[in-house]
Amino acid sequence: MTDLEELAAEALAAIERSGDEMSLETLRVHYLGRKGLLTAHLKNLGSLPAEQRPAAGQKINLAKSRLREAIETRRQTLERESLDARLQAEKIDVTLPGRRRAGGGLHPVTITLDRITRIFRAAGYEVAEGPEIEDEYHNFEALNIPLNHPARAMHDTFYVEPGTVLRTHTSPVQVHVMEQGEPPFRMICPGRVYRCDSDLTHTPMFHQVEGLLVDLEVSMSDMKGAIVSFLRAFFEEELEVRFRPSYFPFTEPSAEVDMSCVSCGGKGCRICGRTGWLEVMGCGLVHPRVLEMSKVDTNVYNGFAFGLGVERLAMLRYQVGDLRMYFENDVRFLRQFN
Ligand code: FA5
Ligand code: MG
Repeated sequence: MTDLEELAAEALAAIERSGDEMSLETLRVHYLGRKGLLTAHLKNLGSLPAEQRPAAGQKINLAKSRLREAIETRRQTLERESLDARLQAEKIDVTLPGRRRAGGGLHPVTITLDRITRIFRAAGYEVAEGPEIEDEYHNFEALNIPLNHPARAMHDTFYVEPGTVLRTHTSPVQVHVMEQGEPPFRMICPGRVYRCDSDLTHTPMFHQVEGLLVDLEVSMSDMKGAIVSFLRAFFEEELEVRFRPSYFPFTEPSAEVDMSCVSCGGKGCRICGRTGWLEVMGCGLVHPRVLEMSKVDTNVYNGFAFGLGVERLAMLRYQVGDLRMYFENDVRFLRQFN
């Protein structure tokens, strides 16, 4: 029986020393398992004289339950310690400021397009769209610019393949709208256009908003009124506007609209080419040939059209000195429009 006392003491010490649940389980099997050391004692009971057996059996069972308790206590201690360690290691300071997500913003050209669209919608214009890859018929012929017409040279066209171009203006959408619907028409078409062109006031890709109004007895003064009220709503101030006689094969008469240069206040600078004026759009009364080609009855209807440069308007509104900055995507520039 001294044997048993020693064994139990040794087992208790080992349990106290064990550092994790795995080694604790190994100890349990070693002492209390089916082939364990204490279990072996119980098996030996049979070899004792009958009168000693009950007392010996009681002692062994007592030792067994003490070990079981010790193991359970140790297990709980280890569990608590490991939880404490994890809590310590994974501690977060909830009072620290959070990581802020950088907020995105709309591109100034998008903001300007939205603004233009909103103003025209309020005046009863519908919004139409057309393809950026266009056939030569819609980009040129249907707009009274036949092959070999000198006006084709004004357009610095990118060809996709013979007969197919990146549209050089939004005017082909006028043709699509007239081909597909019945007059009267009152629509705008915002979109990208492409020209082989690049300097302070020109980029190879830029945006135009086309306008088309076809109705009964439309006059040049209707057109001027529509354009001037748009520009007033857009700039919310009285910038000087002038209509300068011009030429487009698809309008007659034709004009270009200039605004006084915001950069120099009209005195003349680099941006306006020393003229004090910046051209923002072309316009005119739709040429009867164009209406006829798109099956609009010119005995009944006539109309006006215009095509404005979105970046030019944005340039004036935001006082940006170089139009190419809109497409360099320098975040320091773009952030200013958030
Ligand atoms: C046209 O494109 C005509 N289709 C406009 C029109 C429509 C006239 C309907 C009559 C009736 P223009 O090539 O002038 O015209 O271009 C129109 C406007 O686009 C210009 O006034 C200018 O504001 C802008 N623009 C022209 N080229 C560029 C460019 N490379 N980069 C930025 N803006 C440009
Ligand atoms: Mg022009």
